[in-house]
Amino acid sequence: MIPDLRRATPDDVPAMAATDGRAFGAHFSAAEIEDFRKVFEPERFVLATDPADKAIVGVAGSYAFDITLPGGAVVPSPGVTWVSVAATHRRRGILRRMMAEQHSTFIEQGAPLSILTASEASIYGRFGYGPATRTAKVEIDRRLTSFRPDAPDPGGARFIDADEARTHAPDVHRRWCAVTPGAVSRSEAWWDTMLPDRDYNKGGATALFYIAHPDGYVSYRRGHSDDSCRVADFFAATPEAHAALWRVLLGMDLVEQVRIRSCPLDDPLPFLLTDSRLVRTTGLADGLWARVLDVPAVLSARRYATEVDVVLDVEDTFLDRGGRFRLRGGPEGATCEPTGDTAEASFGISTLGALLFGAHTPSTFARAGQLTADPSVVGRLNAAFVPERLPVFGTNF
Ligand SMILES: CC(C)(COP(=O)(O)OP(=O)(O)OC[C@H]1O[C@@H](n2cnc3c(N)ncnc32)[C@H](O)[C@@H]1OP(=O)(O)O)[C@@H](O)C(=O)NCCC(=O)NCCS
Repeated sequence: MIPDLRRATPDDVPAMAATDGRAFGAHFSAAEIEDFRKVFEPERFVLATDPADKAIVGVAGSYAFDITLPGGAVVPSPGVTWVSVAATHRRRGILRRMMAEQHSTFIEQGAPLSILTASEASIYGRFGYGPATRTAKVEIDRRLTSFRPDAPDPGGARFIDADEARTHAPDVHRRWCAVTPGAVSRSEAWWDTMLPDRDYNKGGATALFYIAHPDGYVSYRRGHSDDSCRVADFFAATPEAHAALWRVLLGMDLVEQVRIRSCPLDDPLPFLLTDSRLVRTTGLADGLWARVLDVPAVLSARRYATEVDVVLDVEDTFLDRGGRFRLRGGPEGATCEPTGDTAEASFGISTLGALLFGAHTPSTFARAGQLTADPSVVGRLNAAFVPERLPVFGTNF
């Protein structure tokens, strides 16, 4: 069976939701579908239909996001989402066809990069995606915590209501994105799906509470069946906001555990406390996956920690966007252009996605046999690709 591919229309949403719901083991509520419609752009969704009965047997969509590169440049980056193929039609190439169709549109539209979060780590490497961030699930027994005497105590945090959160949070989030590699933008429509806070998001906990700082924002829930505080969003555009907001969260009497699901691996929180081990990592996730669609555009937009001049050979078997490029870059700017010069480092496009935001080092991929270069070149790449802080994306999609 060769499926027909077409773009979605608004009328397809119930059938798309049923297809995706079966694939992910969920029945989407009317409220979820209504919220989805706020961010749904039909022409961004590719549907595969069975020619026999026209039933939808595959879905692959995208959202229009921007993403921050190390150094602060912001580039458009479609976020691939809603990917599923009916269990009755799997392993016949339907995903591969939808990915080819979708990514050729991204290229036509000039997107330099695409991103996604992966249900399974074994799926997307073949399509050129590499794991681009790492985030920790963290739990803190707040009853045992105390702040170091020299830890900042800037104050300035206050509780706000949902209406104020709706204006304060997007503003802080934009400023947080500007200083955070890997940060994914949120449109006004996106905030409209998150706030108001619907029942389907509560997961056995209360509605959201909101804390504001002039440069920060936190939303959290309190568990019904345990004494937990579950952080939903934590965005701090300055170290002061970070310290002030954590002081409120860890100062909440009657709470035993404060939990946050996507903490950057280099978050300074442990070093604000007298006992850094109380910030306990209970899980690690790869988070965001990145796929470079335009190597010169992305590598010249990024900034580098040290001056680098290197010829890279990038292989792309899926979309043929690879080639040989000379990258000249440093902290102030970069150029990247096709070249015929001899390659000094060779790797696949998925490895480039994994290295782009600096979550992983080139030497890790060299040791894994996924990057070939002289050790001195690997050392130079290691030094150049170090980001100002480890990447974190901040929005599940
Ligand atoms: C993942 C999923 C969309 C794959 O659809 P599919 O139509 O069966 O995939 P295809 O037949 O086009 O396979 C394309 C390639 O990916 C591989 N592949 C597909 N699913 C895979 C999986 N779950 N694990 C590992 N490899 C997978 C296939 O072996 C094939 O490899 P090849 O072309 O390099 O030989 C489908 O299994 C699904 O809906 N799963 C549940 C929902 C889900 O996890 N969606 C992804 C959300 S991020």
